[in-house]
Amino acid sequence: MSKKVVSATIQAKLLQSAKKVMKNAHAPYSKFRVGAAILLANGKIFAGCNVENASYGMTNCAERTAIFSAIAQLGPKIEIRAVSVVNDQGVPCSPCGACRQVIYEFGPDATVYFQGADGPKQAHITELLPEGFRLQ
Ligand code: THU
Repeated sequence: MSKKVVSATIQAKLLQSAKKVMKNAHAPYSKFRVGAAILLANGKIFAGCNVENASYGMTNCAERTAIFSAIAQLGPKIEIRAVSVVNDQGVPCSPCGACRQVIYEFGPDATVYFQGADGPKQAHITELLPEGFRLQ
């Protein structure tokens, strides 16, 4: 049994925010729209979508867009409690390695909700990113 980190109501709100922002994705190259929403320790929710570029490597994933948006609004002293990730194709999609490291920076105890190979899944960020990098 997975641990309940946030209430079903808040989890549904997070999912709803991720689905809504997914529609704003700029994904003309991959045609794969992604939405992410983060829940902060102060209860606030921020959302982000993927933003691609003709120079493919400049693409920003939905998760990082959401995190950077929260920091732009509130400053860097944010604590991410949970992250919800959705895509428009209903296929398995967990955060990429780069996003895992960024989630870890601001949410070393965060829970991530995403579509796994066998359906909806939740995982602690340290399960997704063992031994994440930290500067002492
Ligand atoms: N993408 C995300 O935004 N988040 C993920 O968790 C996986 C991948 C985006 C990046 C790119 O725009 C598209 O999905 C295809 O890789």
